[in-house]
Amino acid sequence: MPGLIGLRQTQRQLFRLTVLCAILQVLLLRYVGIFSGPQLPTMPSEQSAQEVAYSLLAGQGLVLKSVDVLQTLWAGYGEICRITATPNVSPNSSGTTSRTGSTAASSASTPQEVQSYILKLITPPPAKANNEGHTRKILSYQVEQYFYTTLAPQLPPHIPVAKHIASIHEPRPDGGVSMAMIISDLRQTYPVAGEKRDVLNQIQVHAALDWLSSFHGFWWPRIPTLNRSQLVRPPLQEVNTDGQDARHKSVWLNGGYTYLATRRTEYANLAADHESEWWPLTDWEKDEFSVAELVASVLEPKQEGWGPIEGYTTLIHGDVKSENLFTSKSGEEVVFYDFQYVGLGLGVCDLAKFFTCSVPLEMIVDDRPVPWELAMQDGEKELLERYWVRLKKESGMEYDWAIFVNHWEMALVDWLRFQASWGFWGNTEWLEARVRFILKNEKWKDAVTGNAMTAGLWGKKQLP
Ligand SMILES: Nc1ncnc2c1ncn2[C@@H]1O[C@H](COP(=O)(O)OP(=O)(O)O)[C@@H](O)[C@H]1O
Ligand SMILES: [Mg+2]
Repeated sequence: MPGLIGLRQTQRQLFRLTVLCAILQVLLLRYVGIFSGPQLPTMPSEQSAQEVAYSLLAGQGLVLKSVDVLQTLWAGYGEICRITATPNVSPNSSGTTSRTGSTAASSASTPQEVQSYILKLITPPPAKANNEGHTRKILSYQVEQYFYTTLAPQLPPHIPVAKHIASIHEPRPDGGVSMAMIISDLRQTYPVAGEKRDVLNQIQVHAALDWLSSFHGFWWPRIPTLNRSQLVRPPLQEVNTDGQDARHKSVWLNGGYTYLATRRTEYANLAADHESEWWPLTDWEKDEFSVAELVASVLEPKQEGWGPIEGYTTLIHGDVKSENLFTSKSGEEVVFYDFQYVGLGLGVCDLAKFFTCSVPLEMIVDDRPVPWELAMQDGEKELLERYWVRLKKESGMEYDWAIFVNHWEMALVDWLRFQASWGFWGNTEWLEARVRFILKNEKWKDAVTGNAMTAGLWGKKQLP
């Protein structure tokens, strides 16, 4: 029956055409239609950067113009994009489109021309129970979002950071969480990227130190007002391994990502490596505790109770390096970003990483090659003094120079413990030589031991 066969063929062709149209429609919506298409549903897990940006900007009365992926995030957990947008001038755009998640009224609703922004889109794979690295990352994105939404707006203009424009934080059906955040594009005002280590010049190093002393100094007197029960504990101590608990939390109890409580695996590897010059850091020094543990217990901010660094604790950035800063053309103005590890700590812990990873070696040592053991040189001292003077001025707090130096030396030993267990990079010769010198000082060790005792290390079952 040729007529019937012909009809079936036409039906099949029609069906193919319909499927093709549907696919084209989806593609169009994804890549083109977003600029004029209807309001998209709220953040399902698979939304593209374009869709998320479009939707978030609409809530701010802005229309997305372009999206450029700058880089993918750690282990493919998302992407960072530079996006551009203009104000939505269409008659029925109120600029108040509702969105799930937080938005902030900001200058974003007033610009008259194309503005650029940064979109940080986090779409991590489902949670893996007891995976410390994964949990640390997920929590870190939540911490960063808290920082930009709640803490950054409190900073005065002389401590610049990116401005929060809009964000989403939503649980996913698979138990994970999707996050996205739009912040201002710092490159407009600070066009020079710090980039790889060892490229900062003296002007930039000074400006970065000034930013750090101002940042630390600003938060120092405000720390007592923080609700400590909301602070994010080390990854494996946070009950819910997918990090959802942290939705109502704030910043890290212990800023940074190298402190001993979150590097126990690496520490155990170092303790097993008897060939390493730095193995003795893990050997029993006092009763059953090693130098590394004594130092860590002193530096560890406490969730409750008193600790020896209590009166000096501030908010630290947690990942201070040239790759996380931009400067003005002259280098005299610096701005930091990447606040994933912001939390409590001593300001000098930020400096230990900065001096090792981003300050040119010639600014901190007098002689080359660097001697095997090294006391504080003039260059190092000058930089530390610059930081210390400004820190006291900004905070209005007292900081005895000897106590400050003692804190600095503990921060160096703690930072070296991490590098020795993870791998060295940066001004390694300087760091190792400084720590050899510090560890030879028995008085210093006694002071650390005494402080560790007041920190309540003895009788403590759970080491930091
Ligand atoms: N506010 C911003 N303005 C301009 N560029 C930014 C901003 N935030 C991040 N970036 C760019 O995105 C890159 C990665 O951002 P970052 O927050 O450091 O994430 P990561 O965790 O991958 O280091 C930066 O190196 C920088 O180039
Ligand atoms: Mg970074």
